[in-house]
Amino acid sequence: MSASSSSSLPRVVVLATGGTIAGSSGDPASSAQYQAATVPVSQLVQAVPALADVARVHAEQVAQIDSKDMTFGLWQQLAERVAYWSVQPDVAGIVITHGTDTLEETAMFLHLTQPCPVPVVITAAMRPATSLSADGPLNLLDAVRVAACPDARGQGVLVVLNQQIHAGRDVTKAHTSAVDAFVSPNAGPLGFVQDAYIRFTRAPASRETGYLPVPSAWPMVEIVVSHAQPGRVAVDALVSAGVKGLVVAATGNGSIHETLAAALADAASAGVAVVRSSRTGAGHVSIPARPSPQAGMFVSAGDHNPYKARLLLLLALASDPVMGQDGGRLQSLFTAY
Ligand code: SIN
Repeated sequence: MSASSSSSLPRVVVLATGGTIAGSSGDPASSAQYQAATVPVSQLVQAVPALADVARVHAEQVAQIDSKDMTFGLWQQLAERVAYWSVQPDVAGIVITHGTDTLEETAMFLHLTQPCPVPVVITAAMRPATSLSADGPLNLLDAVRVAACPDARGQGVLVVLNQQIHAGRDVTKAHTSAVDAFVSPNAGPLGFVQDAYIRFTRAPASRETGYLPVPSAWPMVEIVVSHAQPGRVAVDALVSAGVKGLVVAATGNGSIHETLAAALADAASAGVAVVRSSRTGAGHVSIPARPSPQAGMFVSAGDHNPYKARLLLLLALASDPVMGQDGGRLQSLFTAY
């Protein structure tokens, strides 16, 4: 459907996947009691008449899910729609409406796989469409503004919420309910949107690498957590189940409890790729000069949080299964992306 017929405006495609931005509630005063993914994208677009002054919007309902239930299949479908629309000659940009819960994972997936010849902007909302002070309408308008903005070209996958522009690589959800739930802990936002004024205040991290293919078969890659008195049952069970990669949400600067480290060392000896990330939420996991059994014998995730590190490991092992046996190559990959 089209929000405007003015042919002088840029064309922006909105791919809808569900989430709270498409959520509804019988009680407009509640931002917590609602059902995500109920309002069709045609209605979301109609609810923002100002879109017609910004772009010719073409809306497509790719899915209608609560993003906690995100699947590899939907990522594949989304990548296909992004790849299709981004090379249509009259398309200036693409907006994806998404749930906030796994938005950072979809943003990382697209960051790693999509060259984005036009801006690809993910947006969402913390409050359902029917709530008092819903944040979705302005987020959608701002996302379309950024997608249509020539300055957004070449900046990779972007995330626009709460008047801020974040890099898909860096952004994470850091609050359960606040409208300013999204942050880029290590780098800060890329810029901001204030009505029609869009300003990029920094460049995204330079990209020295190409794009990883969207897998046709997805290896099993899971996350385990280091904490006080961990057991090794989960790691051993995952190895028995055929896991190919493990990301540890480690303490502090990538340190791992000795019990878990022993289980992971056995997993690594059995051919499982093991990557250390930090559960702290910010910072870079150092690569020690001298590997120790507690930490340094496993690849460092750098500044990727456990969920983003899992995506990189997943795509790396899907494209090259033997990379898991080569810690040096895997470390180079994590350093580069
Ligand atoms: C979801 O992630 O789909 C539900 C939560 C949200 O969008 O805020």
